[in-house]
Amino acid sequence: MKSPYTEKVIEYFKNPKNVGVIEDADGKAQEGSPACGDMVKVYIKVDEEQVIEDIKFESYGCASNIATGSIITEMAKGMPIDDAKKITWQDAADELGGLPPVKAHCSVLAIDGLRAAISDYEERHGLIEDKEPTTVEVVEDRLKRVMNPMTGLDVIKTDLIHDISVEEGVVTIYVDLDEEHQFANAIKEDIKEKVEPIWDVKKVEVHFEGD
Ligand code: FES
Repeated sequence: MKSPYTEKVIEYFKNPKNVGVIEDADGKAQEGSPACGDMVKVYIKVDEEQVIEDIKFESYGCASNIATGSIITEMAKGMPIDDAKKITWQDAADELGGLPPVKAHCSVLAIDGLRAAISDYEERHGLIEDKEPTTVEVVEDRLKRVMNPMTGLDVIKTDLIHDISVEEGVVTIYVDLDEEHQFANAIKEDIKEKVEPIWDVKKVEVHFEGD
């Protein structure tokens, strides 16, 4: 049977580039795909000229996702963050000589990971313009990046978040899970990691209220 993948996709899948972790990353992100439940992590080091000097990724996705992660990390290395933000999944797919249409979301996942790592860097370094006060919707959007390890989907999609309140920089999140649950701590850490960097958030409180 003929492979649906181009030779370049297969080559980048078999010999992925820039795989790994940057321990002292300036920006990092984890993105999950609602379409398939896979996940990607992206780490960046940025120099004082706002250029990506190093980038690595880890993929828990398919061949298309790994190939896209490889190609976009190669493309983004040495690029100013403002240019790297503009890389699209279509650019990645073109660079790979095409992807089967059913696999477009795998490329989108890798691109989302790169953009989220850049946003994380910008937030941590006070570079976000148009600072709007954080609302429940903003927090909810962030929580779409927190995985529910029991399903591989995010905590919003799986209705694990019971309530969210935002008051004077304090974000309180109620999770529909017993605090003794084996994943409670991991979820709490992940929530804090995603919500704490928001520019006007001073404190994040996570409460578990399962029965
Ligand atoms: Fe999940 Fe490709 S099928 S990333």
